[in-house]
Amino acid sequence: MDPRTFCAQSRLIVVAGKGGVGKTTVTAAMARMAAGLGLSVLIVEVEGKTGLAAAFGAEDLEYDERELAPGIRARSLTPDVALLEYLDEHGLGRISKRLVKAGLVEVVSTAAPGIKDILILGKVKQLERAGAADLILLDAPAAGHAVSFLMSPRGLREIIRGGPLRSQSEEVLDMLTDPARCRVMLVTLAEETPVNEVVETAFALEDRVGVDLGPVVVNGLYPVLDGLETAPGTDVAPDLAAALAAAGQFRARRQELQQAQVARLAADLPLPQLHLPTLFSVDLVPRHIDELASALAAAIEALPARTEVA
Ligand SMILES: Nc1ncnc2c1ncn2[C@@H]1O[C@H](COP(=O)(O)OP(=O)(O)OP(=O)(O)O)[C@@H](O)[C@H]1O
Ligand SMILES: [Mg+2]
Repeated sequence: MDPRTFCAQSRLIVVAGKGGVGKTTVTAAMARMAAGLGLSVLIVEVEGKTGLAAAFGAEDLEYDERELAPGIRARSLTPDVALLEYLDEHGLGRISKRLVKAGLVEVVSTAAPGIKDILILGKVKQLERAGAADLILLDAPAAGHAVSFLMSPRGLREIIRGGPLRSQSEEVLDMLTDPARCRVMLVTLAEETPVNEVVETAFALEDRVGVDLGPVVVNGLYPVLDGLETAPGTDVAPDLAAALAAAGQFRARRQELQQAQVARLAADLPLPQLHLPTLFSVDLVPRHIDELASALAAAIEALPARTEVA
């Protein structure tokens, strides 16, 4: 599939998955890929310091949006500021600051879990409606929280009969369940527990939220190397030869384990996969993000033209 077509399928892509699997990294790579195609991109991060800005060599994000790289803007949303803004827009600016200072959001969210999430998602919906960018990428909160995060509008709609929160929930749900507006891209590693969790999350999101799922990103794959044994007749010291052989065996074993998990994922979850390589580096810098963006584009190109058909 043409990466341009891929990017045009929905204005909002929610990148979700278990903690530490590479959501922020994949978000950055997607942004780079889309911006490289000439699209304007807005990244929304929701959990404070995600390392997203650092991947672009920039300072930490704030609520107000900022350009991270050509064609890529980003902002950090928090429920408190989203609430302030909402109240301001509804003529309640004068009291809102005091309420937020007094910890209103905390109080309300203890009484009705999901309020914080709906404040964030409500703001994202507003950005999506306003056409804030050609592509909006939401770097979703970690782990099982992604499900409850995206479940929040449904949950609130059940307990709130009327008023602005009810309509907010309905409008967010409309966005989440419209494949032309929003889809979720799940990220996983090719390991036992992450694969189990991503399968479970995928079914939960489809059944309970009704959101459209894009391909699953399998991150951190070892490029498959053949010939990891020392070639016969190679002249190396016996110690070194033994160390190399051990390293080769280790690497071959890792590859096998990963490939087995990839196969299991394919068997358990009928979604196309996008494979991303592991990069051997401690911190990912813009050069690495570019590399992953190219890998992502190549993986998307390898997808059949129509992947969204269930
Ligand atoms: N393909 C890759 N190759 C090498 N390192 C990677 C790769 N993908 C991610 N990493 C590194 O793994 C770590 C976790 O990645 P990242 O922060 O993107 O995950 P996350 O899912 O957003 O985590 P969190 O749940 O904490 O938000 C980071 O240090 C990142 O630089
Ligand atoms: Mg992250």
